[in-house]
Amino acid sequence: MSDALNYLVKARPEAMTAYFSFLKDAGKHLDPKTRALISVITKIDAQTERGLRQYLPRALRVGASPVEILDAILMAFPTLGLAKIVWAVDIILDMDIPEFRLESLDAEPQWHELVSWDQVKDGNVTYLDDCDGRNVFVWRSGDTCKVYDSRCPHQVTDIPHLALSGLQLTCPKHHWVFDVSTGKCVENGTRPLRQFESRLKEGWLQAKW
Ligand code: FES
Repeated sequence: MSDALNYLVKARPEAMTAYFSFLKDAGKHLDPKTRALISVITKIDAQTERGLRQYLPRALRVGASPVEILDAILMAFPTLGLAKIVWAVDIILDMDIPEFRLESLDAEPQWHELVSWDQVKDGNVTYLDDCDGRNVFVWRSGDTCKVYDSRCPHQVTDIPHLALSGLQLTCPKHHWVFDVSTGKCVENGTRPLRQFESRLKEGWLQAKW
């Protein structure tokens, strides 16, 4: 939430509680994907960059594909107009979300070879960059491991290797803190790191996205 909204919640709690209940109730008959797509459109219409950066990943998280999001934006052309659509696409390109890259738009999830298993540190975190266009953090404990997207679940910031301290990963943008052994957000935020399905094949660690 913005500082201005935080201020209003404290200054006029009765009015703002009613406002937030209205927003919640207004979409209660819509499925999460439709709600998320409408939110993306409203953020573009109001040209709130912060809101768009927040609601775009949310739309992906609840199951909207990049092409569905692009279709929703284009369908809103009569109200948005070309200038706002271009404004939004510039932000989407700046976010560099792997799913929105042209070569990924229609791609089905597939297995990607990440690293030889004997190079994955046991009881520790291994950072791998540029695995077929993504960076990942790998937590290994004995024969099991977890592979996480380096993109923050808040606004898809690419969390760098330097943000890792022991098992704690801190996103540099708004300081959400994650425990890499569980993927959970343990400070400042609410959502866990995105975990990819993974497997060992012929001595290699693979992940699916
Ligand atoms: S983008 Fe906001 S905490 Fe990571």
